[in-house]
Amino acid sequence: MKGIILAGGNGTRLHPLTLVTNKHLLPVYKKPMIFWPLETLIYCGIKDILIISGRGHAGHFVNLLGSGKKFGVDLSYDIQEDAGGIAHALAIAEDFANKDKIAVILGDNVFMDSGELKKGVDDFKKQEDGAKIFLKSVSDAHRFGVAEVKENKVIGVEEKPKQPKSNLAVTGMYLYDNNAFDIIRGLQPSGRGELEITDVNNHYIEKNQMSYHVLESEWTDAGTFDSLLRANLIAAGIKSFPQ
Ligand code: G1P
Repeated sequence: MKGIILAGGNGTRLHPLTLVTNKHLLPVYKKPMIFWPLETLIYCGIKDILIISGRGHAGHFVNLLGSGKKFGVDLSYDIQEDAGGIAHALAIAEDFANKDKIAVILGDNVFMDSGELKKGVDDFKKQEDGAKIFLKSVSDAHRFGVAEVKENKVIGVEEKPKQPKSNLAVTGMYLYDNNAFDIIRGLQPSGRGELEITDVNNHYIEKNQMSYHVLESEWTDAGTFDSLLRANLIAAGIKSFPQ
C-alpha cells in the first residue's frame, strides 16, 4: 500500500501564522505538524510515501524531511498548483499509486495512537476492494465531514452540516482502492468550489464498499487556532481543557 500526505492549502484560517510559512510546518508540541501524520503512516507499515504541497513551500518540506532515509522510508514530493480541495490534490497521486491501494492522510491530522490505525490498515489489506474511513466521536461535528451510521454501516457522509446527523466526525485518514482516481474524475466542485473528499466517500458508500472503524484514542485536526491549541495540548499529554 502507498501513503499520501496532503499538505496543500493556504491555511487562511491560521493567518497570520501562515502568512510566510506552511500550516503543516507549524509546531505541534515537540514536532513540526507534518511529523505526526508522517509517523502515523510509518507506524502503519507504509514505506512509500508521497507528500503533496502547494508550490510556495514545497522546498521547505524537502529541507525538513529529505529522502525519508532518516525515517527509514522513501519520500517523494509533488505540487498542487491551485488549491482545489482535498480530492483535487489526491488526483495528483494517481501515477504514484500505480494501481496499488492507498492510505491518504491530511497533513494537519494528529492521531495519538497509531495502533488503531495500523489495525485498520491491516484489515483493509484483506478487504478485496472499496474504502475504509476512521470516525471519532466529537462535540463539534459541524466542523467536519459527519458520518451517519445505521446497523453497523455508514449510510452517508455530510460535509460540515449545520445540523449533524451524528457526533461521528470523519477523520483525515482514508484508505482507498485504486478506483478512487476514477471517482475523482467524475466529481463536480462543491458549493465552496472544491472537489470534496466527502463526495469520494459517498461514492464508495453508495456502492456498499465502505467499511469503518470508530477510534477510541485521541484525534484532532489542527487547522484552526482552537484545534491547533488542542493538538498541542493533546500531544503534550494535557487532557483537561475546554472542548
Ligand atoms: C477536511 C474534510 C472533512 C474532514 C476533515 C478532517 O476538512 O473536508 O470531511 O472531517 O478534513 O480533518 P477541512 O478541515 O480541510 O475543511
